[in-house]
Amino acid sequence: MRNNYFFSLIFLLVTFNSLGQLIPTVSEQVIIPTPEVYQRAEGQLMLTDNISICSKDLPENIKNYLIDKFNHVYEIRTTVSQVSKDIVFKKIANVPKDWYSINVNETVTITYSSEESCFYAVVSLLQMIEGENGDLAISKCFVQDAPNFQWRGLHLDVSRHFYTVDEVKRFIDLMALYKFNTFHWHLTDDQGWRIEIKKYPKLTEVGAWRDSTVNAHYSTTPRTYTVEKYGGYYTQEQIKEVVAYAAAQYITIVPEIEMPGHARAALAAYPEYSCTGEQQEVPGLWGVFDDIFCAHESTFDFLYGIMDEVLELFPSTYIHIGGDEAPKARWKKCMKCQAVIREHGLKDEHELQSYFIGKMDEYLTSKGRKLIGWDEILEGGLSPNAAVMSWRGFKGGIEAAKQEHYVVMSPGSHCYFDHYQSDSPSEPLAIGGYTPIEKVYEFNPIPEGFTSEQAHYILGGQANLWTEYIPNMQQLEYMTYPRALALAQALWCKKKPDYATFKSTLLANQFSYLERYNVNYSKAVTFAKYEIKKSTNGVKLELAKTASDQVYKVKSSNSKGESVQTLTKNDSITFSRTQSNEIIPCKVEISNNFTEDKQGFTLIEHPSLGLNVELITQPSASYPGKGGETLTDGIIGTRPWKGNEWLGFQDQEIEFQVDLGKKTTIDSLDLSFLQDEGSWIHHPANLRFSVSKNGKKWKYLKNSEIFTDQYKIESTSLLPYRAKLHAKGRYVQIKVTTFDVIPEGLPGENHVPWTFMDELIIYFK
Ligand code: ACM
Ligand code: ZN
Repeated sequence: MRNNYFFSLIFLLVTFNSLGQLIPTVSEQVIIPTPEVYQRAEGQLMLTDNISICSKDLPENIKNYLIDKFNHVYEIRTTVSQVSKDIVFKKIANVPKDWYSINVNETVTITYSSEESCFYAVVSLLQMIEGENGDLAISKCFVQDAPNFQWRGLHLDVSRHFYTVDEVKRFIDLMALYKFNTFHWHLTDDQGWRIEIKKYPKLTEVGAWRDSTVNAHYSTTPRTYTVEKYGGYYTQEQIKEVVAYAAAQYITIVPEIEMPGHARAALAAYPEYSCTGEQQEVPGLWGVFDDIFCAHESTFDFLYGIMDEVLELFPSTYIHIGGDEAPKARWKKCMKCQAVIREHGLKDEHELQSYFIGKMDEYLTSKGRKLIGWDEILEGGLSPNAAVMSWRGFKGGIEAAKQEHYVVMSPGSHCYFDHYQSDSPSEPLAIGGYTPIEKVYEFNPIPEGFTSEQAHYILGGQANLWTEYIPNMQQLEYMTYPRALALAQALWCKKKPDYATFKSTLLANQFSYLERYNVNYSKAVTFAKYEIKKSTNGVKLELAKTASDQVYKVKSSNSKGESVQTLTKNDSITFSRTQSNEIIPCKVEISNNFTEDKQGFTLIEHPSLGLNVELITQPSASYPGKGGETLTDGIIGTRPWKGNEWLGFQDQEIEFQVDLGKKTTIDSLDLSFLQDEGSWIHHPANLRFSVSKNGKKWKYLKNSEIFTDQYKIESTSLLPYRAKLHAKGRYVQIKVTTFDVIPEGLPGENHVPWTFMDELIIYFK
């Protein structure tokens, strides 16, 4: 190594955007997750081609890791000996577990408390290397660091799509780069059983294979299938290999064996453990199925037998037993299940679920392990030693922590990486939902208002990669990165920097770091953050207040022509209300210089575009859109839904009013609703309309009322309801009434349905 005090001057990182502007993206801070202390000193340490590593106090596997990365990622040769001086390690006592420091001066000195923290120091050091191969350096600095949360997890579903041993190892390698320490391996689900169990060979002989797979989105009907045998599984030898591989990078694998629901693959192999005993196939369709494990004693013997082998393979403290989305339809009609309910004095099928989980808890506890399950395991009472993984928001986790149970937070709102991450039309098909990286960055596993005693029960957090719509490794990496970096910040840092600083570290350092590992990451973070707002005669497109000085190119085209404009902080692009009830779709495309990917949307110019809508009923905090403006912004709610284009309510009665600006003769009105049973979203039961001259005295339009039977509605329906108003007034009042509850047999049975509505188009005489 040699010193170079001038190197930092040359190494000012700058990037140019398409319009030739200089954007300084110098990032003082290069490491993600951001260390607790990072103090930059003057000058840089140049890395010569032969780096000498001192093997004293350096654990063997970490030595191999470091050498491998130097050789293969940076093309630097290394020598190792007891007396080498360039990189030196010192193990010390009396510092917290997981603590490490790095001092970069004339040499690099790493001080650490445990093997794990030694590994984390090496992981940080690798990220600190700057420059092109052949001309590499590390800025002189002092780093001191320790993690905030003990559960820093990523989950991977290998049932819906199968990932080979090598692919799983690659997933683990990338996790280790960002100091994740828990890999939640979702090994079983309806569409495939992926772990060899010697006592029950049919689990993989039969359960690991399906004959077909639904293509396009689940909600697109009529459904079509790729008719082709699909599947795979891991032998026990392969599982052991992966467990050891992860352990060498200080990652614990928590296996998940799903029960009592999501068990169709197991039941295809052993139908005797279902309630009906009927032989059914491994489904090639996604969703939630009624057929689940029967709660009879023989099922527990079967599951204990499986667990015995699982425990042999996985040394983790926690074993995940699923517990989510288990419809009770079969249990209600099953004599064996009803007998268990009577025999144990249980109140209903929810208590039977709790009994089921309790049996597994008892079994795992007797083997010295701990049970963890999705938050549905709270239903009917939480079993004594169970930990909860909260996915339906933070609520389940809050409840469990208050009951003094351990919790991993993994709320859909922040941690579901199978959701869309941008509005680009080039985004690959996803399940739905919208979780951009900024949202992930906001994630805090500790709920607001928690005391430190309550916070003690929050182990950490995790993102989930459900793979219904993630068929291969390329796409898996795209969905995971860079969102996983935002999650790493939320889980590692005690005090994370603001989002703008994180973003500049991504652009200046981390994107090139990901490229060193050939990660297929998304560049959506470089996309414009824009808003569509009301304007005088319609709506306007503007950059969001938080936007940088970057300039974007906006191309808009409709039946009347095409225009290309630039968009900066100070500009806006307008779209006008149409005059003669015309509907004019306008295609908008936004480009920047960081990526070939373009953002885009279709904005519909229509006669009520940008009209003022006052919401009397407020939308759910989870799906607030941008309030009333959502309904007249020209952006039409889509399917699969991304979230922010719809207004979501969970009320029985929803009321809102539109101001037409002046007394007007109204002909009719269109209003659309989403039907997505799997997400508990249903069309309304009834729509009623009134008009008013002054917004105070209302005239009820009885003849315009619409009643629906939601169960005649195709489950894909986005069709607008058209109401013939034939009335005069300045204000229109709309009242939407939902069905009382979701009927039994459908996902979310007995809950109030969600109502998602979007564009309101009013036609005038
Ligand atoms: C889940 O997403 N069903 C846990
Ligand atoms: Zn049963």
